[in-house]
Amino acid sequence: MIWKRPGQVDFIGSFPNTLPDGKLPEVAFAGRSNVGKSSAINALLGRKKAARVSGRPGRTQAINLFSVDGRISVADLPGYGFAKVPEAMRQAWKGMIERYLGERESLKLVVVLVDSRHDAQDLDLALIEALQDALIPFIVVGTKTDKLKRNQRKRQLNRLADDLGVKRSQMLGLSSLNMDGRDVVWAAIERALSQ
Ligand code: GTP
Ligand code: MG
Repeated sequence: MIWKRPGQVDFIGSFPNTLPDGKLPEVAFAGRSNVGKSSAINALLGRKKAARVSGRPGRTQAINLFSVDGRISVADLPGYGFAKVPEAMRQAWKGMIERYLGERESLKLVVVLVDSRHDAQDLDLALIEALQDALIPFIVVGTKTDKLKRNQRKRQLNRLADDLGVKRSQMLGLSSLNMDGRDVVWAAIERALSQ
């Protein structure tokens, strides 16, 4: 299914602790602080600012939920790996994400975002291994591909797939600036949600 701008996007709320019951199939966006989760959600939803984009990393500390055409739920998860976050907050994040991944019955797909310019990071690998162990379907999306030249892009995505131990078909690229890759990422999401 090719990308089509959703007609209706509603912000459900920002939840630091307990989430409302998941009544719709849910896709969650996870990744390091500043990797481009909120920007990717805005790009995919065809909205300038459904999700809050910030220049400063480590801002989203709660799970933000959106509903799309009353059909799909989107979860913007707080970013991990920001160096300046105090240890207590890091642990709180870990607890929140582990609980979410372990208990969210409506969760159909996790979109793991990694910066396409950088090497795979330990925390990304840990998340992917946790998803594999829990048998939670996921795709990996390399963000900010507009910052790479065409040949570099392919090479980086191959390398990331290798280093993260995922199939090349599970590794997609996206630019939330020029929307390159949006159709393919959206199709993967729709496919997972319809299963
Ligand atoms: P946290 O909520 O803090 O974890 O960050 P996030 O992962 O939601 O990242 P966010 O979408 O706020 O983007 C972080 C920065 O990267 C912003 O300055 C964005 O404008 C920039 N950015 C995000 N996606 C892209 C992209 O595809 N291309 C380029 N060039 N910049 C991007
Ligand atoms: Mg964000």
